[in-house]
Amino acid sequence: MNDPLFLDPRLVELYDAQASWENEILIGGRARRRRGAEFSFYMPLVMAADTVLDVGCGTGELLRLARQAGHTGRLCGVDPANPMLQVARKRTDIEWVLGEAADGGWDREFDLVVMTGHVFQVILEDQVIRTMLAAIRSALAEHGRFVFDTRNPLVRDWESWMPDVVWEFASPDGAVVRKWHEIEAVEGDLVTYSTTFTSPAWDGPIVIRSSQRFHDADTVSSFLSGAGLAIEEQFGHWDRQPLPDTSPEIITIARRE
Ligand SMILES: C[S@@+](CC[C@H](N)C(=O)[O-])C[C@H]1O[C@@H](n2cnc3c(N)ncnc32)[C@H](O)[C@@H]1O
Repeated sequence: MNDPLFLDPRLVELYDAQASWENEILIGGRARRRRGAEFSFYMPLVMAADTVLDVGCGTGELLRLARQAGHTGRLCGVDPANPMLQVARKRTDIEWVLGEAADGGWDREFDLVVMTGHVFQVILEDQVIRTMLAAIRSALAEHGRFVFDTRNPLVRDWESWMPDVVWEFASPDGAVVRKWHEIEAVEGDLVTYSTTFTSPAWDGPIVIRSSQRFHDADTVSSFLSGAGLAIEEQFGHWDRQPLPDTSPEIITIARRE
């Protein structure tokens, strides 16, 4: 079951405004280019690969920006949320596939498979993760690389997802949208929380309930080896610093075993 954040057209319309790779937004009153470092990590990898598959591409912003920056090879994005893909389809010179990775039936076709924006965490069932990783392995060319990120559970990022940390960003129609989180439950690696969005353009707030899993490095490693994938490099930060216990991310580059 996918998160309402990716299915409710009112929220999908806001996705690029709050999660853009390029824009600055206010978080807790502080201006941040939230995804700037992440963008600097992924973009050179995408530009250097002739054939790229983006699993859980969402609104497809990374591939759209790559094409805009002059990528001339094959770019393909796959995502099960049709409202997200509708935004991606603004760009017609990229392949957009509605579904999960296994639905593409790809066979050794991609030099690079990416999975950005913590997609790994929104897939809640082990079996769905296993099926996805098997499909990614099949999609990878012999020399191909699979690169993805997941938040490090040791840092307990969810403890900062509190109602007093308010995000502010402009919706496409110019209204200022505010959003905040509230944690409902932490059960093992599963964190369940609500997100409240308000806009002067709406009659009332929109409140949604979501869950994410926080896998540790050992779990990531065992999912990968179970799918016949080997870790080549792992980083804890977008600037490729190593993975100590305190690093915010677990960023993995994997290849066929
Ligand atoms: C947080 S968004 C990330 C979107 C994009 N990768 C980015 O970096 O902005 C998570 C995306 O994962 C997608 N998703 C959920 N379940 C999935 C699955 N089983 N396989 C692939 N993508 C999935 C959602 O539809 C959503 O678009």
